[in-house]
This record gives sequence, structure tokens and C-alpha cells, in this order.
Amino acid sequence: MHVVYPGSFDPLTMGHVSIVERAAQLFDQVSVLISYNPEKASWFSAEERVEQVQTVFAKDSRVKVDLWSGLLVEYAKVHKIDAIVKGVRSAADLSYEQVMAEANHQIGEGLETVVLLAPGALQGVSSSLVRQIHSLGGDVSAFVPPSVLEKLKQLK
Ligand code: PNS
Repeated sequence: MHVVYPGSFDPLTMGHVSIVERAAQLFDQVSVLISYNPEKASWFSAEERVEQVQTVFAKDSRVKVDLWSGLLVEYAKVHKIDAIVKGVRSAADLSYEQVMAEANHQIGEGLETVVLLAPGALQGVSSSLVRQIHSLGGDVSAFVPPSVLEKLKQLK
């Protein structure tokens, strides 16, 4: 089975890394999809985010990275994706994902979403939290891979 794991990944966190690793244990191929909106401001460009994921999963042939600015279900159709994978940290995440999963199921002709649970220690970790802590001078080394930490430090 070939699954897609979509997100903004701005930046990639240890929570994302854990979900990719778990998905790669279950499925043959995982495409991490950087879904970007060219009109929306981001910390890292879409290409920089692709590079961050490629760097972390360079040695894992089951994991690929791609960029997409359109509808997720369109990507799934074009690339013959079997299911969407999402990571869920909390009940609030789950109710948000439930709405998206239902919409994607309807407009994606039955496309299913598989939800994986974030590990307990990473339950509070999100890209927005990482951005906030880092911008206020806090230490995010426990929340992002070392290669991403370097990129954060290089930001002006
Ligand atoms: O990391 P994020 O920002 O929570 O990810 C949200 C994302 C990218 C998964 C979601 O916005 C998405 O699927 N965007 C692609 C466009 C699309 O298909 N939108 C309709 C989803 S119901």
C-alpha cells in the first residue's frame, strides 16, 4: 500500500518524524506531502521544507517527499494513493481530522484516512509551538530533528 502523509511541516517536528516512522512500518511506501499555499506566509519555503524531510529520511527508501498546492484528493488520484495518513495528538485533533477525513472521503470517491496516535512524550509538540518557543529564544532541541534545529538557528 502507498499512503500519503500531508501537512504544512513548517517546520518538521519529532512528532511528524514519529508518525512517518510508524506509517513506514505499516505500509510499503509513504509519501510525505508538503501541502503549500503560495499566498500564505511560512517560516520555511516549500523547497526548504522538502529538503528538511529528505535529510531526515535520506536512508529510508520507503519514504518519499513531494510538493503539492492543490487538493489532496487530486494528488491521491494522480499518484494512485491507497489512503491518507494523519497524526493525532489529542481529542481536539481528532475532531478536526474527522471533518477533513469525511470531506476527503466524499470528494475523493471513498478515499480513506488512517489515523495514527502521536507518542505520549510528543503529544504537545506542534510546528506552531516550535515556532513560538524558538522566536522567543527558547530551546526546541527536544522537539525537532538536529538538522531542522540548525536551519532554525540560521533563520534571521
Ligand atoms: O499541517 P497542517 O497545516 O495541519 O496540514 C493541513 C493539510 C495540509 C493536511 C490540509 O490543509 C490539506 O489537506 N490541504 C490540502 C488542500 C485540500 O485538499 N484541502 C481540503 C482538505 S478536506
